[in-house]
Amino acid sequence: MFKFVVLSLSFCFFSCANMGASGQTQKFKTAEEYSKSKEFKPGKLVIIQGPTSDHETNINILVPRLKNYKYIVESPEGKESFADEYETIGAPVIHWKIEKINIKNLEPNKDYTLKVVDEFRGSNTVVDTRTFRALDVTGYKARFAYASCMADDYRFTEVIDPMWAKMQSLNPDFIVLNGDVVYVDSFEFVERQKATDLDIWQRFIDSFNRLPIYHWTTLKPIFATWDDHDFGTNDGDRNFTSKQAARSIFLGFFGGKNIPGVYQLENESVYFSLNAFHQRMLFLDDRYFRQPNKEQKEAEKFAHWGEKQHNWVMNTLNSEPSPAWLFNGNQFFSGVDLSYKESIQSNNPVHFQQILEDLKKVKAPVVLASGDIHFSEVMRIPSDKIGYETYEFTSSSMHSYTGSGWDNPLRVPGAFSKEFNFMLINSTSRDGGLDIDVESWGLANKPYFKNSFQVRK
Ligand SMILES: [Fe+2]
Repeated sequence: MFKFVVLSLSFCFFSCANMGASGQTQKFKTAEEYSKSKEFKPGKLVIIQGPTSDHETNINILVPRLKNYKYIVESPEGKESFADEYETIGAPVIHWKIEKINIKNLEPNKDYTLKVVDEFRGSNTVVDTRTFRALDVTGYKARFAYASCMADDYRFTEVIDPMWAKMQSLNPDFIVLNGDVVYVDSFEFVERQKATDLDIWQRFIDSFNRLPIYHWTTLKPIFATWDDHDFGTNDGDRNFTSKQAARSIFLGFFGGKNIPGVYQLENESVYFSLNAFHQRMLFLDDRYFRQPNKEQKEAEKFAHWGEKQHNWVMNTLNSEPSPAWLFNGNQFFSGVDLSYKESIQSNNPVHFQQILEDLKKVKAPVVLASGDIHFSEVMRIPSDKIGYETYEFTSSSMHSYTGSGWDNPLRVPGAFSKEFNFMLINSTSRDGGLDIDVESWGLANKPYFKNSFQVRK
């Protein structure tokens, strides 16, 4: 039997040089050096920087279930400390677990290093290394990439890497993911309406292993909510049998400890608020409490969000006058009514009217944001809807199936792209409202559209 012995050798990367078939020099370590290395190229694990403020961050790491890694944070001055490992999320049926760490006392605009260390048999091997920053939420401008719908289907193999490389090259301060970050019930593995907790785990792990964002050497804070496919089932609703497992897995990957005054997860489903950049961002849950779309005997008054979430939205918006974004997986306004397209307006018309009535009354001006439809557009919402002119920004898809789209009478002329794309948004809090610059970016070397908007109540 081969006995695995780990000896202490100094780290040596690319120490050998050979001439390859092309005549170019190839550099690599010897097999023995690989076996004894103490440090490897970053990016192996799935690592997600979640809710973050100017002094605190939450990071979630997917690790093999038998490993007891240590998480070491190195400050810009080179001082090392252990991160607070506050929770582990796993399930007996899977080979992985999510380890959740919280890091406090950060300073904004400085580079920190996270080292994932395996102490197996005294080796102290650095399995993965990432850099990260706090997020300076004290200013007035939020500069973020905004994306939804990321299929890991073989069909998109060629575009997945360049799409994420484009986002990386634009260097947003943070990233908003608004649903379908995983297609649990793609037609490859899991039947619709039947996903078990094992199915959800497996699809998240497979998909996250494929998508580059979770392997970037430089982490970016991600704020995420779900839509139907990462909830677990197409057009999903409150009757979905695995919704509690889905919630635990989704929050395992994207959630974190609440950060007083900045990040607040309401302990109901996955909805939460971000108070940053002198504006608010409310990330809504359009699935967990939703009345089924089909065979409705009556259109319920709070059919889309449930009453508690609806009241939380309005109370939060009324608690102070600073402007707010509302992120919801599927569209608020349908634009045009189509049987195969979900929206609050089409599926939950009574609740939709209630939302409009209540938005008229709250202190804060709002802009709307959605995903889901596999093309991007901006809708101008006329002032007769909620008392002032606002906009709905729909960003979709990073890489998923698309068709030719449809006409929409609310669409801002030209603000449309059915290419793979995401939005780069500058949202500035000014004069009690928002100045918003939006660009739609994809594989092309210039934006598919570019607009500026102002919203004032
Ligand atoms: Fe989608």
